[in-house]
Amino acid sequence: MSVDGKEKPPMQSHPWPSANCCTLLSTKLRDLPAVNKPSAPSPFASKYGPWGIVAGASEGLGAAFAAALAARGLNVLLLARRVDHLLRVADEVRKGTNIEVRTEAFDLARADLPDALDALTANLDIGLAVYNAAHAPVGEFVSRPVGDLPRVIDVNIRGPLVFARTLAPTMVARGRGGIVLMSSLAGYQGAPRIATYAASKAFNIVLGESLWAELKPHGVDVVVSTAGAIRTPGYAKAAGKDAPGTLDAKDVANQTLDALGKGPVVVPGAVNRIARFALGRLIPRRTAIGIFARSTKDLA
Ligand SMILES: NC(=O)c1ccc[n+]([C@@H]2O[C@H](COP(=O)([O-])OP(=O)(O)OC[C@H]3O[C@@H](n4cnc5c(N)ncnc54)[C@H](OP(=O)(O)O)[C@@H]3O)[C@@H](O)[C@H]2O)c1
Repeated sequence: MSVDGKEKPPMQSHPWPSANCCTLLSTKLRDLPAVNKPSAPSPFASKYGPWGIVAGASEGLGAAFAAALAARGLNVLLLARRVDHLLRVADEVRKGTNIEVRTEAFDLARADLPDALDALTANLDIGLAVYNAAHAPVGEFVSRPVGDLPRVIDVNIRGPLVFARTLAPTMVARGRGGIVLMSSLAGYQGAPRIATYAASKAFNIVLGESLWAELKPHGVDVVVSTAGAIRTPGYAKAAGKDAPGTLDAKDVANQTLDALGKGPVVVPGAVNRIARFALGRLIPRRTAIGIFARSTKDLA
């Protein structure tokens, strides 16, 4: 009873609505779409998450890989040398997602790569590792500065080798994961004027195929992407115009990721698959080298 003599409802000891009210509220909430409820990870994120790493992610295909991984629900660690480019890619990738994006200014040709990569990734649960970076000198072999060519070995061969060797053991231990190596149609036969680059891409095909077979029984999927021409700043600088079958970086990234678990090799794009079949199966190897030479003769 109150001082004014009127009957008052029993005091609530807490500010929350009564049980009836709660029931009503929860019924109403059940009818609403779950806007902020964290959704269950996608099958892709369950298999390859929670973190992805992209080596060489500051532009072109690497940036497309970063965006594709984020769209599939993975947090991403992005590596490259140019910090301003990396930060721009990270901002773009974050938009409209709630995934975490980290960047690291990192030279994949550094002498202490094994230790540096190990230290950088030790505390991250990385389920998917994409090695995209490449050094691609173009021109007559005899005219290339001799000091520049070994950089192809560092970035395109030693890099993916150390990368895979550093990141695969944790994936094997936990019985799931994925590794993507970027190669090229140039890696299937001799490619005049990009000889060192093409040879490095051949290394990646054989490395990837071998790891595909070796790691598969441990639940780790490896795929090598032997791409044809891709619309990237690097390709535009070297080629000037699109070759037949040129693809957008986004399509190459998605077709490559879709091929995880179906490896060992994917050739993105129907035109490129036909070209690969013709060059690899239908004509003699020396003719294939001659045809490839026609497509590389105008690269600058
Ligand atoms: N574009 C094509 O037509 C084509 C065709 C077939 C295959 N591919 C392959 O696809 C991949 C991507 O091609 P793309 O055209 O996007 O290449 P790109 O434009 O040359 O970009 C390569 C990426 O690698 C990074 N990178 C290069 N050297 C590095 C180093 N020492 N340390 C760290 N990062 C380094 C670059 O970033 P920073 O410069 O900031 O370090 C950049 O983010 C390559 O593996 C290439 O061989 C491309």
